[in-house]
Amino acid sequence: MSNRILAITGPTSGIGKSTVIELANDYDIIILLCRNIEKGEHLKTLLTEEHKNIQVEVIKCDLSDLANVMKAATQVLDHYPHIDCLINNAGVVSITRQKTIDGYELMFGTNYLGHFLLTHMLFESIMRSRDKQIIIVSSGAYKYAHIGHHNFNYPLRFNPIKSYSRSKLATLYFMQELYEQFHHCGLNVTAIHPGAVSTNLGKTKYNQKFGDFIYKIFDSMFVSPKEGAMSTIKVTKDKTLFNGAYVYEGKVTELENQGMNYYDRKRLIRETLEALQLDQFMYLSTDK
Ligand SMILES: NC(=O)c1ccc[n+]([C@@H]2O[C@H](COP(=O)([O-])OP(=O)(O)OC[C@H]3O[C@@H](n4cnc5c(N)ncnc54)[C@H](OP(=O)(O)O)[C@@H]3O)[C@@H](O)[C@H]2O)c1
Repeated sequence: MSNRILAITGPTSGIGKSTVIELANDYDIIILLCRNIEKGEHLKTLLTEEHKNIQVEVIKCDLSDLANVMKAATQVLDHYPHIDCLINNAGVVSITRQKTIDGYELMFGTNYLGHFLLTHMLFESIMRSRDKQIIIVSSGAYKYAHIGHHNFNYPLRFNPIKSYSRSKLATLYFMQELYEQFHHCGLNVTAIHPGAVSTNLGKTKYNQKFGDFIYKIFDSMFVSPKEGAMSTIKVTKDKTLFNGAYVYEGKVTELENQGMNYYDRKRLIRETLEALQLDQFMYLSTDK
């Protein structure tokens, strides 16, 4: 178990890209789980030119396609004996109502469900590692939604802010459930709010100009991707200090009530297992 292995989603832009660049010295192998292979290969070249001793692998992983998530996870499991740290960083904001391949609302399906399935599939190999770490890049937007009852149905009415917020609240509940069920097995799990960061989030080919305009107008309120990656990087270096916590600006931050509804969390997890046809929350072949 000499190699230290990092796997990260959404490393091809914004916060994720800054995160891997900053962490390249700390891991022996970096697995880039990307929806766009070309961007992944470009990042691989950048990393290997700078760091001669690391091994970088690019794996196609489109989190809005559950079959593709399973394929990506299988590829990781086939080639790597363990994963020290999984960073669930990828995220999407859509101002229009869109579906994933599997029929879920795009943000819920990608930001939460895709990552849930990926984590489920990689869980044993994370628990086999030395660090046993999962970092979930969530968002302070969790405050603007309740989890509600209809997340698994494609919405008839669509509010982009509420849908994004709900997907991020779901990731926070996921972190809490992982902590509750597995911290005594040595799992280190943390959720991050990176702050308001100037990235490509929310920009699509349909609204690129509008997105650039918004980021320009509010420029003074946004931090750089490098600053946005700061909490994630800090947590990788001090995993036990931040275990079970929500971290903002590098500090453990208390969640507001919306982020701590026990019954909503339990219902969400139960419904997620049903939707994904999983018979248990994460899988460990040995007794917990
Ligand atoms: N920016 C902020 O102010 C802010 C605030 C709070 C939380 N966050 C969170 O921070 C995380 C990183 O976002 P960012 O701001 O760095 O945005 P970004 O620049 O748009 O980067 C998002 C990353 O996610 C990837 N991605 C999007 N959809 C995907 C899919 N279906 N499958 C796999 N990967 C996918 C993107 O891939 P491509 O390169 O192919 O597009 C990109 O690498 C997100 O989880 C976001 O919700 C951001």
